[in-house]
Amino acid sequence: MKHLLKLLDLSSDEITEILNLADQLKYELKHGIEHHHLKGKTLGMIFSKASTRTRVSFETGMYQLGGYPMYLSANDMQIGRGEPIQDTARVLSRYLDGIMIRTFEQSQVEDLAKFGCIPIINALTDFAHPCQVLADLMTIREFKGSLEGLQVGYIGDGNNMANSIIVGCLKMGMAVTAACPQGYHPDPQVLEFAKDYPNFHLTGDPKDAAKNADVLFTDVWASMGQESEAEARKVAFAGYQINEELLALAKPDVMIQHCLPAHRGEEITEKVFEDHADEIFEEAENRLHAQKAVLVTLMKS
Ligand code: CP
Ligand code: NVA
Repeated sequence: MKHLLKLLDLSSDEITEILNLADQLKYELKHGIEHHHLKGKTLGMIFSKASTRTRVSFETGMYQLGGYPMYLSANDMQIGRGEPIQDTARVLSRYLDGIMIRTFEQSQVEDLAKFGCIPIINALTDFAHPCQVLADLMTIREFKGSLEGLQVGYIGDGNNMANSIIVGCLKMGMAVTAACPQGYHPDPQVLEFAKDYPNFHLTGDPKDAAKNADVLFTDVWASMGQESEAEARKVAFAGYQINEELLALAKPDVMIQHCLPAHRGEEITEKVFEDHADEIFEEAENRLHAQKAVLVTLMKS
């Protein structure tokens, strides 16, 4: 594994290895065992969109691994003024040991990998959020003991989270039912991948996704960059809220995952969110451990 661009590129074994290493690094951190695997290495962190969890967990994670995280706002870089990604990739490859990037187009991330010669990590594009879903898989395994055979429901927008959840969960032997309104389906590339999995279903009815679920996922109705569509989306997604009525259809020990930030009263009710806060905030914590595992896998000499 040279990069983390999207989960479509990873094998199930590669995902399992990252999750195992993440568990180990979490254990070591909690027990005060130092793990400076990236001493002397620098990670460039390019952001074209806002972030709380991703920035802080990558920055802290790199520090805990003995390396140096360098925050780079795309607006303050020459990319923001039109310098081609091919040139940015070749220049940064000469200074840095790895790049983490949060941007809009998936093609930017793919091009950084194509033209640079250091590991590239996708920290969210409009197409995918692989770091988040690795943390989600880690959290589900922690709460449920194993992944294979679990029934997953996704309710909401067929966005970057939906795309990565579908691919990651199917690769790990889970069954997935995604409920998305017409016009808001997951990416065609993801649906093409999922069509070979008989345990994948796309529906317009959130009840189908909630039924018998071991894990229920949702995400915001308007992602970063879609702020102007927010009102229209509230109409399109009415009925796609995880509330107590929907939850009653799931298994009694269902867990909820939300990548955050959450909009209470929209995709999830206050009550359901707070009842499942332990799972959701463990998920947020696990960003740190899962990403450290990715950094070590890609950047350790
Ligand atoms: N879940 C997530 O990626 O959060 P941030 O946008 O705060 O980084
Ligand atoms: N789908 C959301 C995820 C935020 C972590 C977005 O892209 O804004």
